[in-house]
Amino acid sequence: QEAAYPIFSQEEVTSHRSLQDGVWVTYKGGVYDITEFVAMHPGGDKILLAAGGALEPFWALYAVHNQEHVLEMLSEYKVGEL
Ligand code: HEM
Repeated sequence: QEAAYPIFSQEEVTSHRSLQDGVWVTYKGGVYDITEFVAMHPGGDKILLAAGGALEPFWALYAVHNQEHVLEMLSEYKVGEL
């Protein structure tokens, strides 16, 4: 059974778009706090383009993310759902 996650509004997600305020993103209805991951990202600061919003448009452009191990990595940062 899946753990119950808190529900966040898009406004709440959008308010987290800097290292100072925390960096949150969404992916397929999930909300992720990736603040700690930003410095570890193999693609560098580009990751901040998605801060406070959806990963989908960016991952559609950078297909390197279309791999199981990337989704596993993302899942570790899940904090809630939209
Ligand atoms: C590469 C994770 C967001 C751009 C990668 C790789 C991982 C990763 C694991 C290496 C993949 C591999 O080589 O097997 C993530 C995660 C993200 C995220 C977990 C969000 C939480 C983004 C965004 C962008 C981006 C939003 C662009 C706006 C890139 C680029 C590379 C890359 C350009 C290739 C780097 C290179 O090999 O030179 N990312 N990424 N990523 N990422 Fe991301």
